[in-house]
Amino acid sequence: MVERQKIRTQVGIVGAGPAGLMLSHLLARSGIDSVVIEKRTRTQIEETIRAGILEAGSVRLLVDSGVSRRVLDEGDEHEGVELRFSGEGHRIDFQDLVGESVWLYPQTEVFIDLADARERDDGDVRFSVTDTSVTDVLGSPRIQFTDTEGMAHEIECDFVVGADGSRSICRQLIPAGERTDNFREYPFAWFGILTEAPPSAPELIYAHSDRGFALISQRTETVQRMYFQCDPTEDASAWSEARIWEELQARVAGNGFSLKEGPIFDQMVLPFRSYVCEPMRYGNLFLAGDAAHTVPPTGAKGLNLALNDMRVLHLALAEFYATGSQRELDAYSERALNRVWKSQNFSYWMTTLLHTMPAASDFDNRRQLAELNSIVTSRAGSTYLAEAYTGWPQN
Ligand code: PHB
Repeated sequence: MVERQKIRTQVGIVGAGPAGLMLSHLLARSGIDSVVIEKRTRTQIEETIRAGILEAGSVRLLVDSGVSRRVLDEGDEHEGVELRFSGEGHRIDFQDLVGESVWLYPQTEVFIDLADARERDDGDVRFSVTDTSVTDVLGSPRIQFTDTEGMAHEIECDFVVGADGSRSICRQLIPAGERTDNFREYPFAWFGILTEAPPSAPELIYAHSDRGFALISQRTETVQRMYFQCDPTEDASAWSEARIWEELQARVAGNGFSLKEGPIFDQMVLPFRSYVCEPMRYGNLFLAGDAAHTVPPTGAKGLNLALNDMRVLHLALAEFYATGSQRELDAYSERALNRVWKSQNFSYWMTTLLHTMPAASDFDNRRQLAELNSIVTSRAGSTYLAEAYTGWPQN
């Protein structure tokens, strides 16, 4: 038996991505103690490339809870997006339709702000741990891990939160018979690039073409992020820069529009699937973020859902520690899942609206164009997209 150094805390959090750090930060503001452990280094997380769009409610959470002013100073407010198909662009004006915006502020910046905030407030966050295991989630949970010096520890806590990403070890603690794994696979993936070039348009462009979907996003004045639909088995390294640009240009072509090209310094194929674990609670274990659900990237909902899970879970834990009542904790899974399934549906809908199905018939293609047309020519249709994209009101 290893002699383990004991650590006592109220909430043990597995995973120091944006979800785990957000919860730890919110709990600290309510006077609740937590310890966060993470197997990756801080640098590894900072270097992971993820999506870049924050809903208005996510921005408010970051600003109002004292995590980030930078999102307002350095993030880019986008008051709409463009849908492009049949060679023409159509603007969906979020401000006009629902009075909200989204912010272009990459996930890695959100992570940096959260990690800095936890450091500033003396939060207990331990990166680079190994041999993590979690036990006793139906009683008094314990988290075992080894630190960077090889010292073995055991955290004793009231609750464990699994914020450990799509390959969650915490999720596995819910026995198969107590858990439903809702999966959906898609017959394509995204080819993602980073390029050193100026922006090609002021806002994001979601493009449908008979060669498939493309998304023109941004990072800074000099770096742009772009994607195009590809086969899931595609080998990213086999594509030359010239071939990538030819494919992207073809998918957004029309009306004299073309992309500003530059050197491509990152290219990779991103997996694409939908997943929801139900319920998101088992005893004193709560799952949140990618550990509980994955959405296709088309609606940019992943990070926003993770932040919402933590907003809801924080309120439930705060009520428990203030009053001893389990009522809000009991409601957590259903409350979080309500938004998860709405986002799952929206991401699925945006995906099927814009992507080309490998076996699509002429009927399928004409129907799809009619659907796009219905959205851009109808205030009601555009409003559905605008409301979901900027984020439904938080309950
Ligand atoms: C991104 O900028 O990486 C991004 C933006 C919107 C999406 C997905 C990814 O829907």
